[in-house]
Order: sequence, then C-alpha cells, then structure tokens
Amino acid sequence: MGDSRAIGVFDSGLGGLTVAKRIMELMPDERVIYFGDTGRVPYGTKGVQTIKKYAIQDERFLLSQNVKMIVAACGTVSSVAADTGENLPVPFVEVISHSVKDAVSQTKNGKIGVLGTPATIKSHAHKNLILKLSAKASVFETAAPMLVSLAEEGWCTPDNEIARLTVCNYLKDMKSAGIDTLILGCTHFPVFKELILEVLPDVTLIDMGVSAARYIKEFLNKNNAENRDGGEHKFFVSDKPVTFEKTVKIFLGESGENIKIDLVDVEKDEKGCN
Ligand code: DGL
Repeated sequence: MGDSRAIGVFDSGLGGLTVAKRIMELMPDERVIYFGDTGRVPYGTKGVQTIKKYAIQDERFLLSQNVKMIVAACGTVSSVAADTGENLPVPFVEVISHSVKDAVSQTKNGKIGVLGTPATIKSHAHKNLILKLSAKASVFETAAPMLVSLAEEGWCTPDNEIARLTVCNYLKDMKSAGIDTLILGCTHFPVFKELILEVLPDVTLIDMGVSAARYIKEFLNKNNAENRDGGEHKFFVSDKPVTFEKTVKIFLGESGENIKIDLVDVEKDEKGCN
C-alpha cells in the first residue's frame, strides 16, 4: 500500500537542507516538505524555552501540511527540544542518536569530536549518548556558533579566508587531542566538509543527515510507509534573505536549481490555531 504523504523536515534555517538532500538522494520517490525558520535563525544561541517554543511552531506548521513524519533536521532542536516531538500524531525523528551510533562504530582510537551550536554542546546530548554506548570513549566538544552565520551567508568554501580561519580556530583543540572521528553536530556544518578535511585530513566525518536518512529509509520500509507515487518537494521559509538563492544552491547542490520557495509566518499560523 505505502504512504504517499510527504516527509516533513525542519530546521532553524537552511542547514536542514543538508538532511533533506540526503533523504532525497537515498529515497528518490519520497516527497519532502521543508521548513527553514530563516527569519529566526540562529536557534543555537538561544535559551531552551525559546528553542522549544519555536520547535513546536515549526512542527505544527508541518503537521498542517499533512506530512507522514517530522524530521527535526536541527542538532539544536534534537538536543534540547526533542520532547516537543513526543506526542505528535506522526513519527518524529531527531538527528542525534543515529549519528552517535555511526560515530561509535567507526572510531578506531575512541576519540570522538563533536562540533555543534552552544545549546547543543551545553546539553552534552551527543556526549552522553556516546558514553552510554562506549564507556571507554573520550569525547571532545566545541561550540562553533560563528559557522552557522557563515553557512547562512554562503561563506563556507576553502577559498574563503574568514571561513578557513574560523574553522581552524574551532578545530584547534580537537586536532591536538588526536580525534579520529568528528560528528558534525549541527546540520549547517556539512557545507564546511572540504575545509574541515583540510584541517583534519585523517578524520572520519559523521554527517547527521546521512545517518538519519539511512534510519528513515529503514523505518519507512519496516512500516510499509514508503511513497510509491513520487511527486514534488515543497520548500517554505519564514524570511527570504537577499543571499537566499545562492545559499540554497550551496546547501542543496544541483537539486537547488529552479526550486520554488514560499514564505510562511508560523507564528501567525499558531495564533490562528489557538
Ligand atoms: N542547523 C542547526 C543545528 O543543527 C541550528 C543552527 C542554529 O540555528 O544555531 O543545530
């Protein structure tokens, strides 16, 4: 039978597109409805109550789009506001646990780095789970808030001096600690992969989107909920910055060409519901 409804994916901004992209690549017949809260990004420097409030509004918007599943394609929401997904009428997927399993199974020397937003790092969400799965592991955490703004700005390639200096700075301690595996604990960070690998050439990078997409595929298959009819993706944002078109292409690659993006006010929608 299957389920032709779309998979709902949200993030504070465009970072979650790195997760959406993996879902689209691995499950080409699935439709994605994406919401990026570009008007309120970043979430990772805000307090937990605000992040939860935003997450609830984002989830409510996606539910109004009749999705079959909601993916919090945001390390910050997954770390500190995953409980907002607990009582939804559709399955909720966070991006932390699957990436942690991949990191633990791939590390050889047990030294794992986590690069995330300040809220994610303060929550120790990845670290706590890593230590649950492998008590012998050593975890090195760094908050890298500047990378979120640089990514939203499209400043993420090796030819960008500011991006290079910022990445080097944030990775300094992990480099001296000798990590062999690095979890990109914020969904904005995969766009810095090339630069990160120049600084840490022998490190295995864990992209939360890859881990989550693999889990979603298995889940849909087990629950006979795959889309067999295909259909179009839809993209919504809460604000359209001037650099938007350029940045979308950086996050989505070729699939970012000619996509239609609609503006939505999730706060207004919420007031309408109350
Ligand atoms: N992409 C987000 C994350 O994975 C959030 C970045 C931010 O809004 O601070 O944490």
